[in-house]
Amino acid sequence: MLFADITVLDENCTVRPHRWVGVRDGRIAYVGDVPPAPDQAVTFGETYDGAGKLLMPALYNAHAHAPMTLLRGFAENLPLQRWLEEKCFPFEAKMTAEDCYWGTVLACAEMARYGVVSFSDMYYATEGRCRAVLEAGLKANMCEGLVAFEEKPYAEYPICAQMEALVRDWHGAGEGRIRIDYNIHSEYLSTETVCRDILDIVRGTDLRLHIHLSETEKEVRECRERHEGLSPVEYFDGLGLFDVPVTAAHCVWLSESDLDILERHGVFVANNPASNMKLGSGFAPIPEMMRRGMNVCLGSDGMASNNNHNLFHDMYLQALVYKGATLDPTAVTPQQALASATRAGALSQGRADCGMLAEGMRADLCVLDTTGPQWCPAPDPVYNIVYAGDGSDVVLTMCDGEVIYRDGEWPTIDVERAKAECATRTARIISEL
Ligand code: NI
Repeated sequence: MLFADITVLDENCTVRPHRWVGVRDGRIAYVGDVPPAPDQAVTFGETYDGAGKLLMPALYNAHAHAPMTLLRGFAENLPLQRWLEEKCFPFEAKMTAEDCYWGTVLACAEMARYGVVSFSDMYYATEGRCRAVLEAGLKANMCEGLVAFEEKPYAEYPICAQMEALVRDWHGAGEGRIRIDYNIHSEYLSTETVCRDILDIVRGTDLRLHIHLSETEKEVRECRERHEGLSPVEYFDGLGLFDVPVTAAHCVWLSESDLDILERHGVFVANNPASNMKLGSGFAPIPEMMRRGMNVCLGSDGMASNNNHNLFHDMYLQALVYKGATLDPTAVTPQQALASATRAGALSQGRADCGMLAEGMRADLCVLDTTGPQWCPAPDPVYNIVYAGDGSDVVLTMCDGEVIYRDGEWPTIDVERAKAECATRTARIISEL
């Protein structure tokens, strides 16, 4: 596809009008302020009229639980512990692998609709979720959720062999669209032995870790009681966990010492502003992380605590809430929020050639319709993207050069079927509770 005379968000999060962007073989093959030579242009295929449109890198969701889409709107207005124990756990205990598959299909449709091409997903029934993502044409870093209470080696847990098989069969599948991550759910749902064993497996490979970290005040307090005063960050650091690439979701309750550790190791912090606000968990110290130049990316978290995969919402919140929370209107810039949703998210997934609109990068792109009243005037459209625009302005989403959403249609997903399956399955589970 050749995007012709279109406004773009470039690799510095600066908006540039009148650009031509050519996509070939899954990559961005041409970016220029003049059309490519005619003999080259013909090799890009369809010409896309850029009038009234803005082309930007697609979004990367750094923390999700896709099958929890089935729980959308089911667990509301409850304190976290009751939300988890009275609603989420009983519901999830009834979920089958097929339920997880269909929840993932619907999540993929929703993400594609909002310009998201890739997500880091922590859940169960991983093989079916990988299949759903490949069929939908998206990308994902998938991990099988680990809950380990017994004092025994990781190898004695069934998930160990399961993870070996997943890495063997799925890591790098779909020309790299699927990656397998290892999971440690959290400090409170794992043992020291299991953490050390997983670290031994991951160290020296191209695999990564995806964990929950310091989400609530209670989690940090109880960790300090269990581990001689250590915070979850200090505890994991003591085990050497941050010696490998880690995406740590939440990171709300951090001390100065915690921030030092995460900064020193280049840990990717997946900020989930909507989820953290909805569950009353607090605000991660994002402005301080930004000041330190840390890797901050964005996640939707599960649909029981958000309730949408519209990452533009989370980007908006990240750019806005810290200004109010810290009484500093310069706390997080829109450009920083955009970088979190795009390039930082891609890097958190080990996808170095993704997340930027530049020649040679993978063609993960989305097009926004900027003809609506909320987009005018636009002395610098970058502010409209974050503060006035929305995921619902997306009219085309492309992953590795393939269109996965365009003008209300999903060429790779049967959305009506996915909606019907999910509605039926959620009704079945609720009736069983
Ligand atoms: Ni989570």
